[in-house]
Formats: sequence, C-alpha cells, structure tokens
Amino acid sequence: MLSINDKFVIRTQGLCKTFSIGGVQQHVLNNLDIDIVEGDFTVIMGNSGSGKSTLLYALSGMDRPTLGKIIFDNQNIAEFSNDRLAKFRRANCGFIFQEVFLNDNMSIMDNVLAAGYLSGRNRKQVYQEACDRLQQVGIDKEMFNKFPSQMSGGELQRVGLVRAIINEPKVIFADEPTGALNSANSIAVLDIMNKLHSDGKSILMVTHDMRSAIRGNRILYLKDGVILNEIKLGNYDAGQEQERLDALKAFLDEMGW
Ligand SMILES: Nc1ncnc2c1ncn2[C@@H]1O[C@H](COP(=O)(O)OP(=O)(O)OP(=O)(O)O)[C@@H](O)[C@H]1O
Ligand SMILES: [Mg+2]
Repeated sequence: MLSINDKFVIRTQGLCKTFSIGGVQQHVLNNLDIDIVEGDFTVIMGNSGSGKSTLLYALSGMDRPTLGKIIFDNQNIAEFSNDRLAKFRRANCGFIFQEVFLNDNMSIMDNVLAAGYLSGRNRKQVYQEACDRLQQVGIDKEMFNKFPSQMSGGELQRVGLVRAIINEPKVIFADEPTGALNSANSIAVLDIMNKLHSDGKSILMVTHDMRSAIRGNRILYLKDGVILNEIKLGNYDAGQEQERLDALKAFLDEMGW
C-alpha cells in the first residue's frame, strides 16, 4: 500500500489508549500501528465513538497514550516530559477544530500575532506573514482590527486556519473543521486546506462528511480501535468530485459505515 519512497512524518507502534471510568476500562485505541506520510492529506473516518478524536489528540501530543510509541519527526514524543511535549507541540503542530477558540479581547490580527510570536521569530517577519496569509484566505486589511465577535463563523474559521499555520507546523491537525459551517464556508475552508496540501503541507483531518473526506488523498477507516482499511484517492481534483465520492462511498459501504 505504501510506497518505498514514502517518508513518514508520524509513525506509531502498539499505540493504546484506555479510559477508566468508575473502575470500568474502555480500550479506545488497540495496539494501533499507523504511518502518516509526509506531504499527504490524510483523512480519518469511522463511526461516532470509534476513537478518531482520541487518535488525533494522541498523535498531536495533546493527550498521552496509555501505551506505545509515537515517532513524530524521528522522536518518540510519547516519552517526552510535559514541558518538552508542550514545546514540541507549539513548534510542530497546528490545530483546527470545529469551533475556533480565539481570544475575544484581542483583534483577529493580534490573535494571529500572539500565536506567531510564540515561535520567537522576528516580529516584523511574523507580521508580514500574518498580513499575507490573512489576505490569502480572503480576510482583507480592513478587517484586521475587528474582534472575533464581529466576524462570521466562516471568517473565524479562516482566521483560525491562519493562526494554525503561522508557525509553519510540520503537521496540521483538523478535527471536523467544517462541522459548524454552511456549505459555502465549508468549501472555502476545504479549498484553503487543499491549497496548503498542494504547497507541500502534511494534513491529518478527522471528518464524518464525505465531501470533506474526498479532499484528502488517503482515507483511513478506524473501527474498534484499529485501522480496518484505507483507500487512496490520489490528490484532489475538483473536476473529479463525483468519481471520488463514488469511490469513497463504495469503500465506506464495504466498511459497514
Ligand atoms: N476523556 C475521556 N474520558 C473517558 N472516555 C473518553 C474520553 N475521551 C473519549 N472517551 C471515550 O472514547 C471513545 C472515543 O471517543 P472519541 O471522541 O475519540 O470518538 P470519535 O470517533 O471522535 O467520535 P465523534 O465522531 O462522535 O467525534 C468514546 O466512547 C468516548 O466516550
Ligand atoms: Mg470526535
């Protein structure tokens, strides 16, 4: 399935995550070996409760596995101290969620800059990049000083995307990034993600939505805490949307989705 030339940005070995509630153990990730190829737009699908978010949180160092290795950029982040993990995460991981968590008391530009300054890079350079990136996603200069409460949901998600990539993360992690958006805004956000992918970024996205999923080039299906199977669709091509949907639907039917 994987090519000999593939370079992995994340690999897991024997990844397990067990939650224990009231003495009852729930094994959500079961001895999972997964390879995320550098430069891929990888999508994770699976039923609600199958552990998609849990997997995303473990791979991105937001949460810790119960057992197993997570080799991210050639280092086993599962054994990092909390401080080292937080630092690693800031430098290497960009996050997009269903809801955008911005600081309501700061302008959207300041929200992006605050994230960018964390990297310790030259401030002028960060500012220039924030301006360019915001404009690339359709947030014009006149909007830079607006506060989050003055923006629409679609605009906020685009600002959230810029904030997620301002530090040039190795991997962009997205958990249902279009879950709260209408169709036009979803398409706008997905188009930006495809642009990032074609610029060479590695993206890992969890979604329920087939129209979102076909934006990826590789789709993994999670069931009972393991990857049951996968389908490769090749890089997204807007002209072949229906073929991709048909292929994905056949795959998901086979998975019993
Ligand atoms: N912090 C936690 N404590 C206890 N159980 C948890 C915790 N987080 C997740 N779980 C359980 O682990 C299972 C997988 O949850 P997860 O959120 O990963 O599912 P998911 O595939 O993302 O579902 P959805 O599609 O609904 O978002 C669920 O049964 C959930 O109740
Ligand atoms: Mg989830």
